[in-house]
Amino acid sequence: MDNLSRLRAAMEQSSVPALLVTTIQNVRWLSGFTGSSAVCLVTPGTAVLVTDSRYTLQARAEVQGLEVVVFQNPRSLDDVIEEQAAAAGASKIGFESSLTYGQWKKRRDRISAVEWVESPDLIRDLRMVKTADEVKRIKAACQLADACIENITRLIQVGRTEHEIGLDIEFFYRRHGAGIAFDPIVASGPNSAKPHAHPGERRIARGDFVTIDCGGRLDGYCSDITRTFVAGEASDRHREIYDLVLKAEVECCALLQPGAQGKEVDGHARKLFAEKGLDHHFGHGLGHGLGIDVHDPGGLSPTVDQPIAEGMVFTVEPGIYIEGFGGVRIEDDVLVTAAGPEILTHAPKELLIL
Ligand code: GLY
Ligand code: MN
Repeated sequence: MDNLSRLRAAMEQSSVPALLVTTIQNVRWLSGFTGSSAVCLVTPGTAVLVTDSRYTLQARAEVQGLEVVVFQNPRSLDDVIEEQAAAAGASKIGFESSLTYGQWKKRRDRISAVEWVESPDLIRDLRMVKTADEVKRIKAACQLADACIENITRLIQVGRTEHEIGLDIEFFYRRHGAGIAFDPIVASGPNSAKPHAHPGERRIARGDFVTIDCGGRLDGYCSDITRTFVAGEASDRHREIYDLVLKAEVECCALLQPGAQGKEVDGHARKLFAEKGLDHHFGHGLGHGLGIDVHDPGGLSPTVDQPIAEGMVFTVEPGIYIEGFGGVRIEDDVLVTAAGPEILTHAPKELLIL
């Protein structure tokens, strides 16, 4: 079933008579449009994508299954939404909760003939389960992430700065026709105890943990991979922490079976860390959905009750972060299939001393 049909089925089930899709990632998911500004109005019998004249040719080339309506000055987006709502006979329209209060108030006042109602996050839920085409694109992005890690292991050297290595990562993705899914994390020594460290001018030193967390955005879909290395030589403490995170990562990946609960999988990593008295060094969730956004809908954390289903793609990224010493995170991207988890990132995970 295509995404428009999936959305219409969800709208019917949730009694949403018409939906105005304004989140640009949801517009992309629904229509294939990759520009930065457009909305979609969907009713049981009509589906239009509205964009402005900067995107006329692009929308015509990319959009599938929806009518394309383009406006230009002096007409506004709301002029067209009002016109399209009237043409479709839509007097009650759901809006997405990501709309800001200001945007909603402006639209409500401007298009007052429509009753605007907050819609449940239908597309958010649908986006969790990927189509075959989306899986293909995520796999290609993951392949590039593996290649990036392979390349970067040759460029991590004592004396180079985090910033230089961050540039190498960014250059690699762009040289291979991708964007970066997020600003790469390159965290060395004590900085590796900060899960989201920003690469700085610190030079890599012997005995550092070096955590690399990066991903590419290829053909609109993201990858997200983390590997932690040791520079120069590894101590027993490095190995002990690394081996524990690796064990948690491998075992949690294996638990991504249809029907499991996100919080159970997350809880397994916490249990392993607690057995060594290290659970308080793992503050963030185990993983998140992956797709159009690097943090796509869905997650693995202590608060997620939602059952895991076939077609979902998650990151699995346990970490232990010790202030003053350093941290380890290992992250893979995993597709849930009926036959079990399929790991999409394949960069080696045994401890590499660089
Ligand atoms: N890779 C960065 C994150 O998942 O937050
Ligand atoms: Mn991640």
